[in-house]
Amino acid sequence: MAFSTTAKKASRGMLLPVIAISVLSFVQCASKHSVTTSATASNPDKGLKDYYKDYFPVGVAVSMASLHGPDSALIVKEFNSVTPENDMKMGPIHPSENVYNWKNADAIVDFAVSHHIKIRGHNLCWHNQEAAWMFKGSNGEPVTKELLLQRLKDHIFAVAGRYKGKIYAWDVVNEAVDDSDDTTQVYRKSNWYKICNGPDFIDSAFKYAHEADPNAKLYYNDYNSEHPVKREKIYKLLKKLIEDHAPIDGVGMQAHWKLNDPSPDELRKALDEVTSLGLKVQFTEMDITIRLPKPNPAPGTTPAVAGATPTPDQGYTPEVEVKQVAQYKMAFDIIRQYKKFITNVTFWNVSDRASWLDGRGGGIMGGAAAGVNTPRVVIKAYPLLFDENRQRKKAYIAVVNF
Ligand code: G3I
Repeated sequence: MAFSTTAKKASRGMLLPVIAISVLSFVQCASKHSVTTSATASNPDKGLKDYYKDYFPVGVAVSMASLHGPDSALIVKEFNSVTPENDMKMGPIHPSENVYNWKNADAIVDFAVSHHIKIRGHNLCWHNQEAAWMFKGSNGEPVTKELLLQRLKDHIFAVAGRYKGKIYAWDVVNEAVDDSDDTTQVYRKSNWYKICNGPDFIDSAFKYAHEADPNAKLYYNDYNSEHPVKREKIYKLLKKLIEDHAPIDGVGMQAHWKLNDPSPDELRKALDEVTSLGLKVQFTEMDITIRLPKPNPAPGTTPAVAGATPTPDQGYTPEVEVKQVAQYKMAFDIIRQYKKFITNVTFWNVSDRASWLDGRGGGIMGGAAAGVNTPRVVIKAYPLLFDENRQRKKAYIAVVNF
């Protein structure tokens, strides 16, 4: 079973010294890229993929809606990789044991192939948008571990097998690491974990994916991978997979970031740790929201009624724009320094017209405020490089001027 040679070295304990990578990265930055920040324009004849052709593919998450009309023109112009936002997930593509919904996933693959665009598969095993039937036996009782793993294998063989040779990289397992600050809890207690009585469903998923498509690059994908506690938990999982000789090629850092999160040091530390294991990195779902984190309820008060209108944000003001430009510039200044380890950067959604991060609230309240009708609001996140009219933002200029 072949997997990345660098991972082989790592599994034999030849971990690259982290300090050497940090020094190398600093030298590269100081010598090669005096990044200009005064640039105010970009070349209309070039797209992100052209600016970064010597670095890594630049991708975007797509839905059926984005394959037609103005979005599709922007995708073809700017990107050379796509990821189906929802259409290849377990629930949408395999809603019951003998039913597969191939239509949308096939359309996205056909679109990409016809435009010579790489395809990232997303995802083969997740606790969310799951195929709920997989966890139930014939009379509704929980399935055994053996039956669940057989169903997972059949699913992966069917999906990864169908797109063999077309999908070049898979998010094999998504978000299996615990999100809390409890350092004793490494793994999310998902249905997968509970029925398999531990994390070895993760090893199995990678094994099945490699058997289904030996040439696809296989990634573990998660968010908040730069936060110290979660970073260490992800590191433990990755190290275990390598020691188990799982056919893993790299880690997907989703990069659902905020105006001040991650810090430069947190980003570098996460990259240094993962690459010291001999793994590649893909930023798989990048966006930088301007929305403020939900305020914690004041001591002694109860959280707002569930579904209550979220606090409206300040909107895309010039001050907020400056912060977003600076965060994107910081991130890409660092990402370019790690180009030998980074094999894809993908944005999650096409433009600020529609982001999964846009908040919706209001309408008929539930719970204690039942029956109260508050105005429906959409609180925009403005997280991407293209505005609501699909025009390049100042953040785009900052990302391509180096
Ligand atoms: O397709 C149904 C539609 O038939 C139905 O009428 C409608 C209303 O209920 O729901 C539609 O499904 C929605 C789906 O997006 C497609 O639009 C789901 O409710 C909704 O939950 C789902 O949200 C997706 C979310 O993952 C699910 O957790 C987001 O679009 C998608 O951007 C988001 O992406 C995830 C990555 O896969 C993993 N990393 C985190 C990232 C953000 O959560």
